[in-house]
Amino acid sequence: MKKNNFYITTPLYYINDQAHLGTAYTTIMADVLNRYHQFFGKNTFFLTGTDEHGQKCQQAAQNKKIPIQDYCDDMSQNFKSKWKQLNIQYDLFFRTSFHGHKKAVQQILQKLYEAGDIYSNTYEGWYCVSDEIFYTQKDLVDGKSPSGKKLVPLKEKAWFFKMSKYQKQLQKHLDDHPDFIQPVQKQNEIQGFLKQDLQDLCISRPKARVSWGIELPFDSSCVTYVWFDALCNYITGIGYLTDPKKFHDFWETGQQVHLIGKDILIPHAIYWPCILMSLSLPLPNQLLVHGWILNSDQEKMSKSQGDKLDPLKLLDTFAVDEFRWFVSKDIPFDRDVHVSPSFMKQKINESLSDGLGNIFSRLSRLIDTHFDGYLEPVLYTQQFEIDHDKEKQLKILTLQTCEKFQKHLYDLKLAQALELISFLLVQLNKYLEQTAPWTCIKNKDFKEAKIILYTSLEILRICSILLHPVMPNKMTKLLSALGEQALFKNISWGHFDFKKQIKHPEPLFPKIKD
Ligand code: MSP
Repeated sequence: MKKNNFYITTPLYYINDQAHLGTAYTTIMADVLNRYHQFFGKNTFFLTGTDEHGQKCQQAAQNKKIPIQDYCDDMSQNFKSKWKQLNIQYDLFFRTSFHGHKKAVQQILQKLYEAGDIYSNTYEGWYCVSDEIFYTQKDLVDGKSPSGKKLVPLKEKAWFFKMSKYQKQLQKHLDDHPDFIQPVQKQNEIQGFLKQDLQDLCISRPKARVSWGIELPFDSSCVTYVWFDALCNYITGIGYLTDPKKFHDFWETGQQVHLIGKDILIPHAIYWPCILMSLSLPLPNQLLVHGWILNSDQEKMSKSQGDKLDPLKLLDTFAVDEFRWFVSKDIPFDRDVHVSPSFMKQKINESLSDGLGNIFSRLSRLIDTHFDGYLEPVLYTQQFEIDHDKEKQLKILTLQTCEKFQKHLYDLKLAQALELISFLLVQLNKYLEQTAPWTCIKNKDFKEAKIILYTSLEILRICSILLHPVMPNKMTKLLSALGEQALFKNISWGHFDFKKQIKHPEPLFPKIKD
């Protein structure tokens, strides 16, 4: 039995630069998965937002000589407006500078302190400002962080969270929940990591060095570590300590999914579960970990590295729906991949202009020209099915596609689900080539032509319903051209509206030229 409440999150993005294709990728995937769960009848909540504290942000504001709160407001607004243009429908745009969040994080810290899970000691090691992560000598690669970033040595009095105390409990959780982290190789990585003794986590920064953060409730000379603050958003954003019902519905019951990039696996798979265990709260159901979008030098696309693709600039070339389709279907989830505008163009033209769009254009032109836009009802009687084996097989394939599609989405396998639709559309194209309704019309076999057109439109109608969460604008257009009125929910066979006049429209997906 599937749980009825669905809660999905993206990471909170650092605001020291603007959104790029890498961050847009995570956000679009979360949006699409959220819309699908809504479509399948779940009660959903989608949280995204910005991570505004810490040394990195403080430095960025200082470099620009802007008061830090103004800087955060500006940059956060920048993310918001990009998400709007990408048609992202979040329920909450979370900011770590929210007053309620700061208060809740202090209460969380106090709870951990009172439970004896926080103690003071001296920290000595390395710190990477760019990753906002502490490293020990054994983590270093050629004197740099594992991600190749600059490190600074640190020695200071600090507060520690007893993460080591939860090592066994976390190991057991992973053993008992083999699909906690997906894909499975990421779960294996963490299980490997846990074979070594877990170090306690330094959760403080002296204000003398980093003042932009949430003050520790038990030591006013320090703020808390930016990761501790940011991770807590996943529960403070859905009412932990403020809205017990919402918190119960979305965290204590239901399904929770954190969508993250592979570079932030350790904070999510180690720090976060240990914090939740210390609070005696359930762990999320899934960490869904994706690879990186690489730049042309085959490095992770990032603010500082080379040719980052601005999603809004890409919208000059690609309509938002085409962009969402490409990102959801053609970026392999568990691998790193270099994406160029010409690759995007090729994939979009192939599947949308020459595929889906072209099928609809051909069908509608034939119906409009030869039947004044109307088809007659075709009955799928036993005799019909015997006489029309091709149509029967396509109908079976369509129904199987719907079933498998839903299953893939419950398993959060978005690209695989969309691949099924692409496959079905390819089969539909082949069917049209083989049966050639235009030839039937030429030969005045109108009955046969109408059967082919009807079968094709029924498949197209079902595909458009299933693709609505990915391409809401274009699929709304297509469905209304097909006469679909209600909220596009009827994916069973035989709901095509024969009373609707089909007109040959403007191309749905105009070919993108060089
Ligand atoms: N602020 C932290 C997250 C705190 S969540 C409690 C952070 N922010 S980030 O802005 O650096 O990265 C946010 C997410 O964007 C990460 O999941 C990261 O993997 C993702 N990406 C950033 N660049 C990316 C690519 N080039 N490709 C794919 N994802 C990318 O870490």
